[in-house]
Amino acid sequence: MSEQPERPLFSAEEFFAQQPPPPQLEEHLEQVREFVERNMNAGKRVVLVTSGGTTVPLEQNVVRFLDNFSAGTRGSASAEHFLRTGNYAVIFLHRQHSLQPFSRHYSHSTNPFLDLLSVVHENNKDVTPVQPKDGFLFPPVPAASTSSSVAPTDSSAQIHISPPHLAPMLSLLQSYQLVKSLGVLHSIAFTTVDEYLWLLRGVSRVMSTARDKEGNALGRRGMYYLAAAVSDFFIPSQRVSEHKIQSGKGSLSIEMDQVPKVLKAMVDEWANDGFVVSFKLETDIKLLIPKALGALDRYGHQVVIGNTLADRKYEVVFVERSGETWVRIAEEERGKVGADGAVREIEEDIIERLERMHSGWIASGKV
Ligand code: PMT
Repeated sequence: MSEQPERPLFSAEEFFAQQPPPPQLEEHLEQVREFVERNMNAGKRVVLVTSGGTTVPLEQNVVRFLDNFSAGTRGSASAEHFLRTGNYAVIFLHRQHSLQPFSRHYSHSTNPFLDLLSVVHENNKDVTPVQPKDGFLFPPVPAASTSSSVAPTDSSAQIHISPPHLAPMLSLLQSYQLVKSLGVLHSIAFTTVDEYLWLLRGVSRVMSTARDKEGNALGRRGMYYLAAAVSDFFIPSQRVSEHKIQSGKGSLSIEMDQVPKVLKAMVDEWANDGFVVSFKLETDIKLLIPKALGALDRYGHQVVIGNTLADRKYEVVFVERSGETWVRIAEEERGKVGADGAVREIEEDIIERLERMHSGWIASGKV
């Protein structure tokens, strides 16, 4: 590889001064303020969970982009486990179309939804399946409609959930509806690294300036759980090509600038006493702890959770100034269903441990 001349590094302030904010930023932040204040008044702690990978578009009319690896599994499972504790309201800042709390159990790859359903007729008689018509194998799917003018093609048909899937789906649906009725989950989607950073800064600032009815700030009762995989490089907006980059000229060279590390600003300026949890992903396990310790030193936050690409679903390491603690799902337990009927997820252990640490953090701030 050839040596590149060094380009100046952007500070967080310079980044925000030149990269345009997402169009609905102010609307999002208004909704976040209402959500945080309402939940503070209900006595909840508030956690911001970031999830999924950010993109860097190569064109303004985007045809191609660079992406960071993350399906959103860690973030969506963690959000759900935070909600289960009953103590947290969750702001879920996630990559558009990545996994989400609750619906993640029925994603396109795990439990494809349509495979869990069957068609049953009132008279329980076998009915000949839909017949080819007008030269097509099956009819077009009608649009959902509130009017009764589009009648079902087969009025005696009902959709049933196949028995082994009924109990888990019922339980999940009830949890989801409870969370909705309590108003303890607020989701916001991002796609690009610019959108992510603008939203991260905006939401953190709202969390640190929100006040309950007595005028108390969220302060130490706020947690920032940064599981998103954030691009380290970006192309400043004035250098992004307007139209699709043409391939006729042979190879393509792209010069990217470094995204400023915002964790420092987050700890010192945006999160105001909140409990900050960052993640570190490595493929070489030997680098995990030194890199995590480096991040603690540089940014001054409370804990780094280290994970490797291969084993991230079964083991993580909590790195604090006081030492390291590994959290693991034993090999014989992996993928097994527990006494409560659920498959063990490492996020349950992560959140249980973090909740205790967070309680300690809140208590240590009291005079
Ligand atoms: O969704 P899954 O498929 O389950 O995958 C989950 C995961 C492996 C992506 C997740 O567990 C994880 O490790 N996320 C962090 C990945 C990572 O190493 O991110 P990073 O190197 O971009 O950032 C490290 C930390 O620095 C992050 O906590 C981030 O908040 C912070 N950072 C990053 C970029 C930036 N410009 N400023 C920052 O402060």
